[in-house]
Amino acid sequence: VAREAVKSVGDGIEARNAGWSFGGDTPKVFDEHVRKSVPLYREGHDLILRMSDFFVRDGGSCYDIGCSTGALLLELADRHSGRSVRWVGVEVEEAMVESARGNVQASGLDVEIVHQDVAAVDFEPADLIVAYYTVQFVHPAQRQALLDRLYASLNWGGALLMFEKVRGADARFQDIASGIYTDFKLEQGFSEAEIIGKTRSLRGVMEPFSEQGNLDLLTRAGFVDVMTVMKWVCFQGFLAIK
Ligand SMILES: C[S@@+](CC[C@H](N)C(=O)[O-])C[C@H]1O[C@@H](n2cnc3c(N)ncnc32)[C@H](O)[C@@H]1O
Repeated sequence: VAREAVKSVGDGIEARNAGWSFGGDTPKVFDEHVRKSVPLYREGHDLILRMSDFFVRDGGSCYDIGCSTGALLLELADRHSGRSVRWVGVEVEEAMVESARGNVQASGLDVEIVHQDVAAVDFEPADLIVAYYTVQFVHPAQRQALLDRLYASLNWGGALLMFEKVRGADARFQDIASGIYTDFKLEQGFSEAEIIGKTRSLRGVMEPFSEQGNLDLLTRAGFVDVMTVMKWVCFQGFLAIK
């Protein structure tokens, strides 16, 4: 079977089968594309902003891993401006880093964007770590080690806010979830071809776990106190407190 040509996956983004990338021109349209692709995207950011009030401490450090264009990180820094908090965004994709750094400069806020694979980051003790639809892109072979490191990096009483696309508990639930999510994407204006193109591009790139799979990851990392703070069929937000 020959390697296929790139296909349109919506918002002017093109990708091959199993070839999704956050690089190239994707950052230019990313904010719009992700808002239309992820149910309750804006509401999730809103919840994280509100919940940050319970964990951010003066003199402490907070991280947003897989910060993309820095949109959420800048809102967090703005909400807590005037406090002496170190805000760090971690992003592996160079084009995203450039976009985030441009947005930081335009905002005038004191925010650092680290261009690194999260696996290689030397975390300072943190009060808050946000991972908003990022862990699903970390290869399953490295995912537990990442969660272990995030747990170890948190101060006692600190929190991990992890949002993930999640698979159904069994085949019937997964079938229902993907049907409902396809309806959502059609209603957002994506064409059938774009939806299939996007799904195919994510093969081997994004690997969601089930709700239980994610809870097991968190538990093995050491988290005892975990609450679901958002759920839309196959999209779930976990608040895990150390
Ligand atoms: C779905 S986007 C995250 C969206 C963003 N958090 C938001 O609030 O809009 C996933 C991001 O994680 C980044 N990423 C994936 N794997 C990573 C890794 N190992 N280290 C750092 N960043 C990573 C991708 O480049 C991408 O920008």
